[in-house]
Amino acid sequence: MCGIVGYIGDQQAYPILIKGLHRLEYRGYDSAGVALISQSGELNVYKEKGKVVALERLCEKTDVTGTIGIAHTRWATHGEPNASNAHPHYSESRSLALVHNGIIENYKVLRLELEKNGVTFRSETDTEVLVQLVEFMMNSHHCDLYTAVQLALKNVVGAYAIAILEKSHPDTLVCARKGSPLIIGVGKSETGRPEYFLGSDATPIIEYTDKVIYLNDEEIAVMDRTGRLEITNLANVKQTPQLVTLQMNLEELEKGGYPHFMLKEIWEQPNALRTCIKGRLDRENSEVVLSGIIDNKEKFQNCRRIIICACGTSWHSALIGKYFIEEACQIPVEVEYASEFRYRNPVIFPDDVVVAVSQSGETADTLAAIQLAKEKGAFLYGICNVIGSSIARATNSGTYLHVGPEIGVASTKAFSGQVITLALLGLAIAKVRGTLDTKFYQMLVDELYQIPDKMQWTLEHNKDIDKFAERFTYCKNFLYLGRGYNYPLALEGALKLKEISYIHAEGYPAAEMKHGPIALVDAEMPVVVIAPKKGMYDKVVSNIQEIKSRSGKIISVVTEGDTVVKGMSDYCFVIPDTRDCFVPLLAVIPLQLLSYYVAIAKGCNVDQPRNLAKSVTVE
Ligand code: AGP
Ligand code: GLU
Repeated sequence: MCGIVGYIGDQQAYPILIKGLHRLEYRGYDSAGVALISQSGELNVYKEKGKVVALERLCEKTDVTGTIGIAHTRWATHGEPNASNAHPHYSESRSLALVHNGIIENYKVLRLELEKNGVTFRSETDTEVLVQLVEFMMNSHHCDLYTAVQLALKNVVGAYAIAILEKSHPDTLVCARKGSPLIIGVGKSETGRPEYFLGSDATPIIEYTDKVIYLNDEEIAVMDRTGRLEITNLANVKQTPQLVTLQMNLEELEKGGYPHFMLKEIWEQPNALRTCIKGRLDRENSEVVLSGIIDNKEKFQNCRRIIICACGTSWHSALIGKYFIEEACQIPVEVEYASEFRYRNPVIFPDDVVVAVSQSGETADTLAAIQLAKEKGAFLYGICNVIGSSIARATNSGTYLHVGPEIGVASTKAFSGQVITLALLGLAIAKVRGTLDTKFYQMLVDELYQIPDKMQWTLEHNKDIDKFAERFTYCKNFLYLGRGYNYPLALEGALKLKEISYIHAEGYPAAEMKHGPIALVDAEMPVVVIAPKKGMYDKVVSNIQEIKSRSGKIISVVTEGDTVVKGMSDYCFVIPDTRDCFVPLLAVIPLQLLSYYVAIAKGCNVDQPRNLAKSVTVE
């Protein structure tokens, strides 16, 4: 997810574009760039790796005149975060410039076709095929930009929000969207002349106009300085623009209308995971397509052990991954705290596969752990969210989460992205090792495909937590219990609560209670029990009875329709039924919401909790 800004009118575009990029920087900040058609008719593109300030420094000595322009702050998905991969991208003749938000799934096929027709590329991105394809359509069909964009987008598979300029038509701005957001601001300059603004959300637009049009999927718009605004769909059928008046202020807009990034990111999880599995989970053919595994098949066929190194929440997702990969692939998986692994001179064999799980890709202990593994000859595989991050670059191969920037310090969508990516990894490895029978494999693929919808159901059926969270603000301790796949989840639920509400919380295997922790149980300590109607349900019910017989308060997570545990609980969250191995992807949502609303009730800063940083780049 990144940021797009655009302008056409009679004001100087550059200041509007730069200010808009700053507003959108929270959406992604690998690189930034602008394209402007200057007063002398030049199509100038300036772009730089890093944050928007780096672009501003670059532009200090350049011609940034012009009353039409587009701009972009990048969250890289294909191609390292560097200046050549930054947007805007020129077409081959440099007569077009384009910015894009999203992922073009069939970019490799399109690029090959264009290269066969003699087109040369300048970047490694998926985006560049769009601008090259538009120019190819203009040249081969002798049509205008608007028509060429329509023809080009008919060949594109994937998600896009785009804006595009043509040097020879400085009065025309074209944009389109499918799967990524794009908003058109409709305004009038001080001289009363029409002007249009583009934004990935309304934050770059709100200070100029509150009248906006939310472009719909597969719609293309063309606008000019005369006030012309036409919208058609890919079939070239005219659409009637729906003008809306914005009700939110700037701060609310940055958080998508949510009060905090953390809550926004909790609710983003269904879509974030759809993006994560897009192009990787082929339901029709029951295939998991991970290039990192395909390109290193023999490594995963022959390895005798997998070691996963991680920290914090990533260590919890790694532990869930261990359970799944061992069950699916019949190989031992060891999960290590990176900070311990790096210093205890671990035994590492050359045929080991060492996996690093890290949202930021910059955690110092995790980076050091895999550098140690590299020295000992192991094959390194990275599971990161930030493209081109240090850990991603230090590994031999890997899989990116593609869940978009995670701003809240408490990890939510990255955790679920890691869990589902580790499940994809397990399925892909099971395929190359032939350890799962076809029917069971197909059933897992089919169930995994439904998880984002089941997450949405879970979000919508556990909304009233905010009404009772207040009662827990006075608690000094929480206990979280789970069995099997839900033991690592209990650890994660406890971490979420303690890191944002500052209430002490511990996660335990439910069966471990009688080996000590049950001494803690009294009426003052809530016990969160993850109790899906799955394999070890009866044993979890016994654990709940033990707690209740000591006046313990029960907060449970149950499978929809369960009345037994619900009847034993002081408060109950529900999740839809799913396979044991996928329960954490659903049960984590109530635990995230519980920690969020208790912390809010306590008046804590949930997006920047005290003493914590989003990425621990020091030991
Ligand atoms: C989780 O909510 C915390 N922010 C923290 O435990 C985090 O998971 C840990 O620092 C690891 O970060 P990484 O995934 O970026 O390596
Ligand atoms: N997929 C494109 C790229 O990697 C666009 C990413 C974005 O949305 O910023 O450049």
